[in-house]
Amino acid sequence: MAETYKEQELNSEQRKEDHIALAFNAQVFSNQVDDRFYYEPALAGHPADTKLLATQFMGFDFDLPMWVSSMTGGTERAKHINKNLARLCGDYNIGMGLGSCRMLLNSDLYFDDFNVRPFMPGRPLFANLGIAQIEQLVESQSLSLIDKMVTKLQADGLIVHINPMQEWLQPEGDIYTHSPLDLIKILLEKCPFPIIVKEVGQGFGPESLKSLLELPLAAIDFGASGGTNFALLELLRANQTAQENLSPLAYIGHTAHEMVEMVNVLSENTTNQCKHIIISGGVKTFLDGYYLTSKCKMSSIYAQASSFLKPALGTYEELDAYMQIQIKGLSISKQFLRIKS
Ligand SMILES: Cc1cc2nc3c(=O)[nH]c(=O)nc-3n(C[C@H](O)[C@H](O)[C@H](O)COP(=O)(O)O)c2cc1C
Repeated sequence: MAETYKEQELNSEQRKEDHIALAFNAQVFSNQVDDRFYYEPALAGHPADTKLLATQFMGFDFDLPMWVSSMTGGTERAKHINKNLARLCGDYNIGMGLGSCRMLLNSDLYFDDFNVRPFMPGRPLFANLGIAQIEQLVESQSLSLIDKMVTKLQADGLIVHINPMQEWLQPEGDIYTHSPLDLIKILLEKCPFPIIVKEVGQGFGPESLKSLLELPLAAIDFGASGGTNFALLELLRANQTAQENLSPLAYIGHTAHEMVEMVNVLSENTTNQCKHIIISGGVKTFLDGYYLTSKCKMSSIYAQASSFLKPALGTYEELDAYMQIQIKGLSISKQFLRIKS
């Protein structure tokens, strides 16, 4: 209902009181200014709709340049999280990677935790396995189990996570001895569905990136350093001596920003077959996502894991409210911010 003149006056008086009370707390110091952007307020009005955020990625139309990073499955809480996230993908026309689906290879016990296709019809949905499982399946000549799993999940393809540091530091980690590159080449030859490759919080250096870009992958998902780091997480589960002595290994890696710069150099290579990049790992805010996707010379979207996890633990309404805030931030960023090169 429209405010009466009297109500407007009272509200205005309250606002003025707020201004006086809050002014001292609203100081920004020069060293806090985000200097990644030129701010251009004089050139446009407020964003009229969110269509400007739409993009094409891996042959899908996305309403937003966003992806939900692979997370979880195999517990009641994971089922709730996955369903919330999948519904979000359906409502906002984005895509999602499932958490490791290893437990689905030989049993249907946890299938329901991962069975999110009904919540996101037509949206990109990718199953997920670690490179150690790929080696086991190659060696046992049972790659058809992956095909069966992808089909049963009605997924569009498979994400393979390459995670040597995590497996090495994990008390019950899996050891693999073949080069992931060779294993992925076998997978690409034998499997009919698209494949994405990712790390789990330490990213890839330039030689790995170069080799991966030369493969016919659907995308490379950075899983860069600077956010959730699974080598560190596994160390937190290990004994104290291991924690104290091996933790420097968890701080090895590449940030998403550094990886975008590597990709920009490598994007010139005529031998590249992979054309899409999912920028992830330490993408904390929509501003990071906007900055990195704008800076990336290849077709890209950005992904988050831990940032989605918190609201996804609650109700769908809480997750939806989180997403609305992201869209609000992203829309105004696109309207008024230009990237400093
Ligand atoms: C709870 C949780 C579980 C995860 N499980 C997997 C997984 O099963 N497979 C995988 O490839 N990555 C997994 N990840 C890693 C994320 O996909 C992502 O690469 C990493 O968390 C960095 O993103 P962030 O900094 O936005 O959290 C997991 C992350 C979280 C937070």
